[in-house]
Amino acid sequence: TWDVVPLAPPDSIFKLTAAYQADTFPQKINLGVGAYRDDDSKPWVLPVVKKASYILLSDPTLNHEYLPITGLPEFVSAAARLILGHDSPAIADDRVVSVQTISGTGANHLGALFLSRYYPFNGDKVVYLSDPTWVNHFAIFENVGIKQRLYPYYDPKTIGLDFDGFIATLRSAPERSVFLLHACAHNPTGVDPTVEQWKTIAGVFLAKKHYAFFDSAYQGFASGDLDRDATAVRYFVSNGVPLLVCQSFAKNAGLYGERVGALHIIVPNKETAGRVRSQLSVLQRSEISNPPSYGARVVALILKNPELFEEWKADIRTMAGRIIDMRKQLHGVLTKELRTPGNWDHIINQIGMFSFTGVSTTQSKALVEEAHVYMTANGRISMAGLNSKNLRYFAEALDRVVRT
Ligand code: LMR
Repeated sequence: TWDVVPLAPPDSIFKLTAAYQADTFPQKINLGVGAYRDDDSKPWVLPVVKKASYILLSDPTLNHEYLPITGLPEFVSAAARLILGHDSPAIADDRVVSVQTISGTGANHLGALFLSRYYPFNGDKVVYLSDPTWVNHFAIFENVGIKQRLYPYYDPKTIGLDFDGFIATLRSAPERSVFLLHACAHNPTGVDPTVEQWKTIAGVFLAKKHYAFFDSAYQGFASGDLDRDATAVRYFVSNGVPLLVCQSFAKNAGLYGERVGALHIIVPNKETAGRVRSQLSVLQRSEISNPPSYGARVVALILKNPELFEEWKADIRTMAGRIIDMRKQLHGVLTKELRTPGNWDHIINQIGMFSFTGVSTTQSKALVEEAHVYMTANGRISMAGLNSKNLRYFAEALDRVVRT
């Protein structure tokens, strides 16, 4: 019966975690998956999450009933304010449709599914993705019958943003095209547009009536400041660019396995919001019935309690700060001590959890196979996997592959 099923390759990111776990080499390093680690390479349960969990579990009225189809109401409304801002004109006008999802991936899926059903595509169903992007974006849109095209984003010559190429594609694409944008801390490059560049990008979106599909998986990780990392999304909303936002709490709350996220669709008015919400409920019901409650309760508590919210911001600064420190140290060892050939300034200029090192596929492979440093073939490293104990080993391994 199943002879027609071809063998699929393993996932390019999660296969690294599996290989790392199976490796017995003492100095192995996992720089693959984007997951925060402390200075001892251990997963870090945020102190504020521990506290909120304790409060929740001590509540004698807590039960395990179903959530509403669109999720925990106090979670989705607080999550919308977190990304769109407390003073968001769209929230004030009741024209934000927010649905709790299975983390950011689920939000991407539900958003893509909704567009594939209802978006007035100009011809073929197509989404423009940044070149490069998170590898899973391709499969998510493929699953719902939306073809993918790439827009220029990363320039290997400058190891920075190809702003002119990006703008040229925005201008030449047919009107009402859908472009996926990384709200901040671009995955995998760590290269974001400046605020001025975002304004220019938004201007072209308006002129061409394009649709912005924002993926916000790293709010807080780019600058260490939740509001600052929402600048692009908020600017687009206040200027009336049609858009949706996929929001994940995996990284900024360290709730990876709890799958806490939301999809926010900003629509022109309250009446449209009602219709859009009704259809999202139908889609959600057929796929997951209703989302899981535990993580959403934890996040809702943190977002709604001013004291816990301040503690969360401090935890985010701890994570973002350690990553920035690793960038500085790695840059220092490569440029001052090892004098590794090439320019390594991008290590300190890039932001967020990842660095796009600029090493080739062959060099990445050598790092994995010879040095037991697990990283994706595109040269991306998760800075969060580096710490004071393994940084020198990594720098020396990188230096070796660059010289051979
Ligand atoms: C990553 O890019 O490493 C993360 O977003 C984890 C994932 O789901 O791929």
